[in-house]
Amino acid sequence: NQDCYILAVETSCDETSAAVVKNGTEVLSNLIASQIETHKAFGGVVPEVASRKHVESITLMLEKAIDQAGIAPEDLSAVAVTEGPGLVGALLVGIMAAKSLAFALDKPLIGTHHIAGHIYANRLIGEIRYPCLALVVSGGHTELVFMRQEGHFELIGRTRDDAVGEAYDKVARALGFPYPGGPHVDKLAVESAVAEELPRAWLEPDSYDFSFSGLKSAVLNAVNQHRMRGEDGYQDAIARGFQESVIEVVVEKAIRAVKSTGAVQLLLCGGVAANRGLRQALDARCEREGIPLSIPPMKYCTDNAAMIGAAAYLKWQRGEFSEMELKPEPSLSL
Ligand code: KG4
Ligand code: ZN
Repeated sequence: NQDCYILAVETSCDETSAAVVKNGTEVLSNLIASQIETHKAFGGVVPEVASRKHVESITLMLEKAIDQAGIAPEDLSAVAVTEGPGLVGALLVGIMAAKSLAFALDKPLIGTHHIAGHIYANRLIGEIRYPCLALVVSGGHTELVFMRQEGHFELIGRTRDDAVGEAYDKVARALGFPYPGGPHVDKLAVESAVAEELPRAWLEPDSYDFSFSGLKSAVLNAVNQHRMRGEDGYQDAIARGFQESVIEVVVEKAIRAVKSTGAVQLLLCGGVAANRGLRQALDARCEREGIPLSIPPMKYCTDNAAMIGAAAYLKWQRGEFSEMELKPEPSLSL
């Protein structure tokens, strides 16, 4: 049997996920246990709590993923796991589970980069054409990655402070929404007819880096001023103004990067790809510029193990396996 079945594990932040992916593209199972309800009470992800929740769910997730895939554990070709970047304790739980299974079944272990996973989520919906540019937007990352060819990553831009999703969550909190607040801000923004005037952080003229902390502070100041003046109903305009600022900069930099690198395709990935405003703006701009745009379905944009299986398949093809000494790499670079 020449088919490749990879069991993939992802525990880098607050989702415990296990999946079985066939030949790098066919998702046979993709189970996700979200810890959002637990972390909500704290207004954000608490690392120690995340680790403990991963320990509680990981075994069941692995069993279910294999079960739903309808294959025997012996038929797996390899066990893949996110080795970084992420929360060290959270990563450790997935790595220990993956190692134990790989050892017990005598299968190769494949340590996988979390961001490579987000990018290769696009392989689950079609071929990636190279050279391409990936715009990675999530709660932990905001990056522009140029890929000359498969497996070749060049980080050409990144956030210098907050990640986009993180900024969304902080703004949402200031507007009174629970964690994770991104979707709430998105909804208000799309529905609001008015926009508060807020700054755009372009940085140096030729820079593909991002910065959202100034914008976030401007939002917090605006909220305080409205409050002091005893006004209410200002939330919609702030959400809209914030979203417009983020989208204008992110879309402009991504398009400029596509043009300057000669990329033939733009890949959008990460949890913030759920943002309606961003999808619409990017879609419209790419259409106008004649740039093919790929956006995976939402279940493959937020953290999930299927994307790790998709990324690991390429390593499996090249015979790039990890040592049993594999350990968490919280700040692993691409
Ligand atoms: O990729 P993800 O699930 O986890 C990380 O790897 O970080 O992304 C989660 C982030 C959160 O910050 C959440 O608020 C944000 O994605 N998010 C959104 C939307 N949906 C989720 N941000 C803006 N608009 C949305 N519709
Ligand atoms: Zn992620």
